[in-house]
Amino acid sequence: MDRRRVGLLFGGRSVEHEVSLASATSVLGALDPDRYDITLIAIAPDGSWHLGSPALPPGAAITGEEVSLPANPASRSLVSVSGRDLEAAADLDVIFSVIHGAGGEDGSLQGLLDMAGIAYVGSGVLGSAVQMDKDVSKRLLAAAGIPVVPWITVRAAVLRHDAATEAERVISALGLPLFVKPANLGSSVGISRVAEHAELLPALHEAARYDAKILVERGLDAREIEVALLGNDPIEASVPGEIRTDHEWYDYEAKYADDATELIVPAPLSDEQTRHVQNLAIGAMRALEGSGIGRADFLLDNPTGEFFVNEVNSLPGFTESSMYPRLWEASGLPYPTLLDRLIELALERHDERSALSTVYRSD
Ligand SMILES: Nc1ncnc2c1ncn2[C@@H]1O[C@H](COP(=O)(O)OP(=O)(O)O)[C@@H](O)[C@H]1O
Ligand SMILES: [Mg+2]
Repeated sequence: MDRRRVGLLFGGRSVEHEVSLASATSVLGALDPDRYDITLIAIAPDGSWHLGSPALPPGAAITGEEVSLPANPASRSLVSVSGRDLEAAADLDVIFSVIHGAGGEDGSLQGLLDMAGIAYVGSGVLGSAVQMDKDVSKRLLAAAGIPVVPWITVRAAVLRHDAATEAERVISALGLPLFVKPANLGSSVGISRVAEHAELLPALHEAARYDAKILVERGLDAREIEVALLGNDPIEASVPGEIRTDHEWYDYEAKYADDATELIVPAPLSDEQTRHVQNLAIGAMRALEGSGIGRADFLLDNPTGEFFVNEVNSLPGFTESSMYPRLWEASGLPYPTLLDRLIELALERHDERSALSTVYRSD
């Protein structure tokens, strides 16, 4: 069989640019060169696309040939901005994007790839957009009967007019402590835990730096449990894992800088809890229109023992030591096999969608 032509897309125009470089390095290291012909495509922080050098720049300047992807399903090829011939970037079979956050995980990239007619790993436009937006996600999860932590959505525009009244409304509805978060972000950026009334306004303004829509949630005293998801239909759930950190909550430093953060795989849960949380995870991914890959994150409320879905990530952290691959490893799927599966699922979904009729025949 011919080797599949895979475009590995990384970097991106978001606060998670660096995280993406780490994910790309791991994926590149594990994709089997006998099966895949890999083209590295880096998106610089200014949004420009470049062919990557064979070695990934760990945070270094992205300097390769500047390219763009025309919305032309007949070619499935990147073109050089300076008009040069680019054999390496022609006839791509599939894009494996490890771009986290805005522009990568929110449906916009998926829309471009749909227009270009190229298969890609993970959720489509709708699933990506919905999973990125914590407010829309929670509305859909609640509608599907999946437990979510009580929340209130605050528009940044309201803060500019009457922030104090808005703060009162939030506290009287939800009490304290609270978590305040931008609706569309990740890696804990812009999130604050609010223990006292006086901390709420600064927290709202901090979140408003990143998004026009802000979520305020009741703050739980909870364990953090994660389940990895794989598949289009059916979706399969991994063994659950647990995150333990010395920090008061799982903030940016605890995620990326602090060695004391522990990923416990499998999570110490009863068989019944495990089955329950796996079913909730699959239900959540379905409710949010996810496909291919996803990681459902839960808060397991200590006082009541109840599981709440905190969020589903359409592109979870993907380095070899990240939770997503580790959960699959513990479920019997090694990292390189996981990558093969994700690429197969991408092609499967693309073929199914391509087979749909695009013309109307009345006969
Ligand atoms: N309602 C909540 N109660 C308790 N802790 C929370 C709550 N919401 C978020 N957290 C803490 O904040 C972290 C980041 O929040 P999350 O919604 O997962 O945002 P991100 O998309 O940035 O990961 C969680 O992993 C958890 O530690
Ligand atoms: Mg999270």
